[in-house]
Amino acid sequence: MCGIVGYIGTKKASPILINGLIRLEYRGYDSAGISTIEKENLSLMKDKGRVKNLYNLPGIDDLEGTIGIAHTRWATHGKPSKENSHPHMDNSNTFSAVHNGIIENYNELRKFLGDNGYTFYSQTDTEVIPNLVHYYYSKDTNNDDLKFLRAVKSACSDFKGSFAIEIICKDYPDNMIVVRKDSPLVIGKGDEENFISSDIPAILSFTRDFYLLDDLEFTVLSRNDAKFYDINLNQIDKKTKTIEWDAASSEKNGFDDYMLKEIYEQPTAIRETIGAKLNENSKCEFDELNFTKEYLENINKIYIVACGTAMHAGLVGKNVIEKLCKIQTEVDIASEFRYRDPIIDDKTLCIFISQSGETADTIAALKLSKEKGAKTIAVSNVIGSSITREADYSVYTHAGPEIAVASTKAYTSQVMLLVILAIYFAETLYINEDKIKELKKDILELPKKLEETLKISENIKEFAKKVYQETDIFFLGRGIDETVAREASLKLKEISYIHSESYAAGELKHGPIALIENGITVVSIMTDSKLVEKTVSNVQEVISRGAKTIVVTNQNIDDTMFEKVIHIPTTNSFISPILSIIPLQLFSYYISKEKGLDVDKPRNLAKSVTVE
Ligand code: M6R
Repeated sequence: MCGIVGYIGTKKASPILINGLIRLEYRGYDSAGISTIEKENLSLMKDKGRVKNLYNLPGIDDLEGTIGIAHTRWATHGKPSKENSHPHMDNSNTFSAVHNGIIENYNELRKFLGDNGYTFYSQTDTEVIPNLVHYYYSKDTNNDDLKFLRAVKSACSDFKGSFAIEIICKDYPDNMIVVRKDSPLVIGKGDEENFISSDIPAILSFTRDFYLLDDLEFTVLSRNDAKFYDINLNQIDKKTKTIEWDAASSEKNGFDDYMLKEIYEQPTAIRETIGAKLNENSKCEFDELNFTKEYLENINKIYIVACGTAMHAGLVGKNVIEKLCKIQTEVDIASEFRYRDPIIDDKTLCIFISQSGETADTIAALKLSKEKGAKTIAVSNVIGSSITREADYSVYTHAGPEIAVASTKAYTSQVMLLVILAIYFAETLYINEDKIKELKKDILELPKKLEETLKISENIKEFAKKVYQETDIFFLGRGIDETVAREASLKLKEISYIHSESYAAGELKHGPIALIENGITVVSIMTDSKLVEKTVSNVQEVISRGAKTIVVTNQNIDDTMFEKVIHIPTTNSFISPILSIIPLQLFSYYISKEKGLDVDKPRNLAKSVTVE
């Protein structure tokens, strides 16, 4: 989704801004632009299309300014076009602004500004920002150092919705103002320079020291300083946070695509996520959590709330929490949960999963749960992300930066963390069954088995080459394998654009089997010894209707019945999704490559979905 970059320092801003935008390309966008302060005027260069097109715009090489803002836009209000691209300037060309999020009351503000003589040249909600700032600026007769800040603050008080805003003013060539509400933005502190970005990896090569902004904290940046103000414009203190990731870990390291690199990083991601939390001979430890037996005994329900792949990880979490801890657990899609008036009270525990920690629906669902009195835990991959700052407790996957839009290592790390969390709950409840001991042993062996699975799974490439031109592919499973079927199907849709559905295998004959015709590909997952025979019978039903079948299994089955069988290592059924998804991630990847598609940046999708 939209990306923001900013720079204020002593170097020429434009190349830094464009490079920053290139690093944010993975978020998804349709147009790009930059604006700098040049002597006494503001420059503005923007167009629809790729960031690199900015290099071709006349005059871009002549920009000398050392302060500037930049943006990649993912269209929400108005089609992708030059006019709708950011930055946007006010009518008098005094302010230039970029914005991420949605100003929900923009129509009302446009009308107000229109009545006051302002004209609009785009269809965006964003264009009201510089104009409303100008409106307040022109009304303020006190020409002191804080006039720019007062105008931005007044405008922000009128905005409804979510925003991350960067704004520059030609009258203040040594300042940039930055503010956010429910939309991500970080400030990287350099030496005589400050960098602004929608996310940390984009500016990690410049600094490891970051200021993480809370909602409605106004930042006035200069070359050597960052001053922070609350909503009443009282100055506040803020410390930097040092980020451990290095820039190299977000590069491709010789792989063709980020997605492939991230698939192969899964053994490491799982090792890191297990970390020191889990040992065979002692209780699971989460430094971040202090739950008591009494508290857990009194929980009436756990909700796991997330979107997309993170929600699929939540389904695995439900299975393990219910089976190990006997606490009723429901999984919800965040965009539904927030509007369905869920039954929540102070005995409810809500777990929110988000790789980015910036997904708007998940954040809104979290806020709602807190309002209703629930205790909240955030599961995220990004330290300091919005969700972790909202939640009562935060626990982290340690997958490292995930750049490809299609989530892979974040999913398996989320599953891993949820299983460890379930063990922590069970041990806190003094449930001391042998099956927990066995599970712990199996978890510790998992990174090795993942390495093995990656090797075994490479031969799925041949099958992908056979089916890449198909228009429909189905995925089947039962129990825990059904949740993997959902994730595999989503992955395929996202990066291959092949229509795909997943079904609980037993549900097939209640309708979907009508779709099965000669030659169609059906993928099934069979890792549960109690269910394997039933799933085999369901697959036989599609074979007898002409389907080509591929099976991912760790069970002893009769391979001759199927077109292809991928045998993965056996493991505990609670964690089998971490292995069984691997060949299916690679299946989607190779189909997408075979079709010549952009694996890392699939059409219409954004890495971080920061609007509803
Ligand atoms: O950052 P989040 O985990 O909150 O993102 C949630 C979904 O948008 C995300 O998992 C999405 O479904 C991915 N593109 C899946 O590959």
